[in-house]
Amino acid sequence: MSFVNVDLLALARDANYFSTLSATNITAPAISLLSYHPDFQTVLGENATARKIADLPWEAFHEAGIYNKKDNSLYVTSNYQSLDDNINITVVSLDDYSITSTQFPDVWEANGGTSYYPPDADQSQTPPQQVYCDEGDFEHYSQLVAVDPNTNNSIILLTSFMGRNFSSINDARQHPVTGDLWFTDADYGYYQFFRPQPAQPKQVYRFEPKTGVVQVVADGFVEPNGLEFSPDLKTLYVTDTGAQQFSFNGTRPATIYAFDIQCDKTLTNRRTFAFSDIGFPDGIHCDTDGNVWAGAGDGVHVWNPEGILLGKIFVGETSNNFAFAPGKVFVFSNSRLWVVENVKAQGREVCKDFGVGCER
Ligand SMILES: *[C@@H]1O[C@H](CO)[C@@H](O)[C@H](O)[C@H]1NC(C)=O
Ligand SMILES: *[C@@H]1O[C@H](CO)[C@@H](O)[C@H](O)[C@H]1NC(C)=O
Ligand SMILES: *[C@@H]1O[C@H](CO)[C@@H](O)[C@H](O)[C@H]1NC(C)=O
Ligand SMILES: *[C@@H]1O[C@H](CO)[C@@H](O)[C@H](O)[C@H]1NC(C)=O
Ligand SMILES: *[C@@H]1O[C@H](CO)[C@@H](O)[C@H](O)[C@H]1NC(C)=O
Ligand SMILES: *[C@@H]1O[C@H](CO)[C@@H](O)[C@H](O)[C@H]1NC(C)=O
Repeated sequence: MSFVNVDLLALARDANYFSTLSATNITAPAISLLSYHPDFQTVLGENATARKIADLPWEAFHEAGIYNKKDNSLYVTSNYQSLDDNINITVVSLDDYSITSTQFPDVWEANGGTSYYPPDADQSQTPPQQVYCDEGDFEHYSQLVAVDPNTNNSIILLTSFMGRNFSSINDARQHPVTGDLWFTDADYGYYQFFRPQPAQPKQVYRFEPKTGVVQVVADGFVEPNGLEFSPDLKTLYVTDTGAQQFSFNGTRPATIYAFDIQCDKTLTNRRTFAFSDIGFPDGIHCDTDGNVWAGAGDGVHVWNPEGILLGKIFVGETSNNFAFAPGKVFVFSNSRLWVVENVKAQGREVCKDFGVGCER
């Protein structure tokens, strides 16, 4: 597969230009690599190839995408289906790309998540646990739950802000130095009809699993969603998917905000980092060079640290998240799973999660 160059001046002058490209004028979802900047090919590597791995009759590939070394698998949460069944977790084997479903105790409606070292864990090993953002339902709290996928043991870490229920915890990251869990709380359980009416502002939180301290670090969002640290841990990126509520409304945010992180604990200097031209930027990850990648309305979009769009892994339908693996990027588009192989870029957390590529 070769890269398709998007002519920015043609795009600037003709709002219909994008749809005239043969790579984007498709009747069914299909993957291609669209360069908006010459650096896109440098970031992905000249030999990157992309293809579809799975096409299922239900939305198995939605969010998370957390690696577990013991079974060499990615754990991907499904999209919400019904209260008759907890949200399934789809296990994608990196050995042969085979797919199975599982569920964990005390995890009801899992959405985002992160690999997780419990307090005092040996950080020379790959993370022994996973944390899922459980959006909750009409009977269960929206909560953070730590799971060991190798034993199915679950430990509930946080069920409320000091007694005030969260709306729908959406996504989380563990700070690699402090071990704190930073997470967002949005309203999607309510918009998908499985949570009560929200009673909290839309905020970003920092939680210390060791001490129980929980603190609001940012507010003022319509729907805070994905979040990610820059590789130097000086910047936090937070996506606002406010454009999508019960329905899509393009006058609301589809925006990535950046903050400076102070003393590994608080945020300052909120600024607009990027806006998505289609859909909304949802799950977000950085590579080790500080480029910012997010699932959006037609695939995964990649911006450089200055917020310039470098390119898209285009699939022609919404991608809510994706996962880095060594030399690979797995793109989730709900019913479909795609892989880009021979990728030069390395995800910020690949060294930690896979225990390889640490020399970069
Ligand atoms: C898309 O492709 C079809 C079939 O080749 C063509 O008829 C149509 O004009 C194309 N649409 C655009 C916007 O270029
Ligand atoms: C791409 O593949 C060619 C041919 O196998 C090889 O010579 C080249 O080094 C590769 N480039 C990268 C960046 O790996
Ligand atoms: C979800 O998992 C449960 C239990 O593992 C299974 O019974 C159910 O069929 C799965 N749902 C889907 C849509 O695969
Ligand atoms: C908080 O959530 C729990 C679990 O769903 C529920 O029992 C409780 O009534 C909720 N509290 C409020 C004030 O809504
Ligand atoms: C964990 O739970 C899943 C789903 O119920 C089951 O298939 C699997 O065998 C369990 N694993 C362990 C180690 O108990
Ligand atoms: C879209 O959202 C804006 C801002 O919240 C609101 O004023 C407008 O009425 C909405 N439009 C539709 C069609 O719902």
